[in-house]
Amino acid sequence: MYLVTGATGDLGRRIVRLLRSRDLPVRAFVRLTSHFSELENRGAEICIGDLQRSADIEKACRGIRCIISAHGSNEATGGAASLDYRANIDLIDAAKAANVEHFGLISVLGSDRGYEDAPVFKAKRAVEKYLQTSGLPYTILRPSGFASNLLPLAERFRQTGIYLLIGDPQNRSSIVSTDDLARMAVDAASIHSAHNQIFPVGGPEILKREDIPHIFGRVFNREPIIVNPPLLAVDGIRNLVGVFNRDLNTTLGTFRTLLANEFFCTPEEIAHLELTFGFQLETLEHFLRRYLGV
Ligand SMILES: NC(=O)c1ccc[n+]([C@@H]2O[C@H](COP(=O)([O-])OP(=O)(O)OC[C@H]3O[C@@H](n4cnc5c(N)ncnc54)[C@H](OP(=O)(O)O)[C@@H]3O)[C@@H](O)[C@H]2O)c1
Repeated sequence: MYLVTGATGDLGRRIVRLLRSRDLPVRAFVRLTSHFSELENRGAEICIGDLQRSADIEKACRGIRCIISAHGSNEATGGAASLDYRANIDLIDAAKAANVEHFGLISVLGSDRGYEDAPVFKAKRAVEKYLQTSGLPYTILRPSGFASNLLPLAERFRQTGIYLLIGDPQNRSSIVSTDDLARMAVDAASIHSAHNQIFPVGGPEILKREDIPHIFGRVFNREPIIVNPPLLAVDGIRNLVGVFNRDLNTTLGTFRTLLANEFFCTPEEIAHLELTFGFQLETLEHFLRRYLGV
């Protein structure tokens, strides 16, 4: 039995769907308020709980063989300290107690770069270290930005032709197909050479951020109108928000880190991924065309 946390998220849903399409038993950890009927209809066992409660985590881990930690944080559901950090530490402890055979952790590309202003990155790095010394067989996937994040922006572009690009248009990233990442997260348990490894995970191409509106333009056959405010605009908003809401100001630190830095994988890292997991990674354009039907 697999346990998937964040099972209603962009990535988690795909992981559960893939496991069920292979007829594998899966327990989906969900909040009562989440939309989880699709997962139930696919035959997932639903485990209702809150990752901020260690008793719920312990219960969810009973009888589990493999765990895939795919939940994320936001201020509404619990911040980086309670979800990216504490919930994962509790999961690892519960996994050990339950003699789990493999623990898959979704981290983030750049978790090891020491970004001081980014609580999610710091939490992920601390959890990676804890997992590495836990004695559990593990695989850590450090993805760049998900292609599925771009679907709502693509829909807006389809209507208006406008693309909002904050910060340096030359910054590079390697957007990963969320479906490819789900496949790696599922396969990691059964691929021995993926055990006790950390993988940077990106798509097959290094894109400049300014390439994305042009890909949208190709997909929808329309010239992009690029609106490009400087990063200073985010800083201004952040300072203003900070006066009223310190937590949101802290969260915006992670957002700013994502905008201000480059997140891409080298061709060698991509070749290593494709070799280990045995399939060819999907380009952003292919992903978008598949989902948008164009
Ligand atoms: N998105 C990216 O570009 C990106 C890039 C690199 C790494 N990552 C990492 O990849 C992972 C998955 O990201 P994602 O974009 O798929 O996440 P997401 O769509 O934001 O989903 C977050 C999931 O966590 C669940 N969750 C939040 N608080 C919870 C709580 N207190 N108890 C139980 N469940 C809770 C949410 O449940 P509800 O449905 O109830 O809210 C949801 O299922 C995260 O670890 C993220 O840090 C993401």
